[in-house]
Amino acid sequence: MPYKVLIIPGDGIGPEVVDAALYVIKAAAERFGVELEMKMAEAGDVALRKYGVAMPQETLKLADAADIIFKGPIGESAYDVTSLIRMRYTLYANIRPVKNLPGVPALKEIDCVFVRENVEDVYVGAEYRVGGVAIALKIITEEGTRRIARVAKRYAEMRRRRVTVVHKANVLRVVDGLFRDVALEELRELEVDQMYVDAAAMELVRNPARFDVVLTTNQYGDILTDLAAQVAGGIGLAPSGNIGDAKAMFEPVHGAAFDIAGKGIANPIAAILSGAMMFEWIGRKEAADAIRFAVEKSIEKDVKTPDIGGRNTTLEVGKYISSIVSG
Ligand code: IPM
Ligand code: MN
Repeated sequence: MPYKVLIIPGDGIGPEVVDAALYVIKAAAERFGVELEMKMAEAGDVALRKYGVAMPQETLKLADAADIIFKGPIGESAYDVTSLIRMRYTLYANIRPVKNLPGVPALKEIDCVFVRENVEDVYVGAEYRVGGVAIALKIITEEGTRRIARVAKRYAEMRRRRVTVVHKANVLRVVDGLFRDVALEELRELEVDQMYVDAAAMELVRNPARFDVVLTTNQYGDILTDLAAQVAGGIGLAPSGNIGDAKAMFEPVHGAAFDIAGKGIANPIAAILSGAMMFEWIGRKEAADAIRFAVEKSIEKDVKTPDIGGRNTTLEVGKYISSIVSG
């Protein structure tokens, strides 16, 4: 049975980087005999302008039927698309590996994985305004914390067995306190430490090599993963997987970058490495490894976009990487 993959190109640089990534995904699927049944759908600012909704019914139906969603960044309407997909399918684990790429100048050495809780916290969208007062609810549950802590445990067991739990329980004593207590309990068999989110931000710049697996809540994870991506060499290189028990969505960490959209200079590597994560999720590690190898090869051969010191276009990089994947 082929995997049903819904492609959502998204806004800004989304269509360019997704197009480039599709060359690579198709090359890997062909070379390793992975059957993918791909469909395209619109969502985001473009859909909002065209149909008056960011997530049209047709796209929702296709997403419901898909095993995998492969998505580009969304612009202004990101909450109505990205967060909606995460919540609707309970994609509770946002996995964001952060690692230097050979040949890409970086602030520091870093090799860690962020395990970001993905469906709770202030992202539940419970916001209210009463006159001059605005209120947002931060929801953290014991069940949701256990579930995400178990994911962090699995990753730590495959890596250096060290988890850092990041929170702000010195201020949010009840809410972040619950997250911290439940997470530490689930992780008791491993080497665990904890850090306040402000200190973690500093440590990610000062001594990022100390981190192995970072377990944190939704909003802190959002902020820290942009920071960590920049430490590793740039947000144009950072992939992610939104994982649930039955479905997953893969997307670059970066945003729609309207300022450079349509210029063919966006780096497709974040989207391409998200494709590698997709193959890994379906159990085809050899395809994922071939993509990662080809990405490194492209940098070594200087086939690069300008953000990492090259002169090639988004599509040239995608096609070059796909040609290496094809062998
Ligand atoms: C991300 C993005 C999203 C988030 C936005 C676009 C809703 O920044 O995936 O990191 O905040 O989670
Ligand atoms: Mn973000």
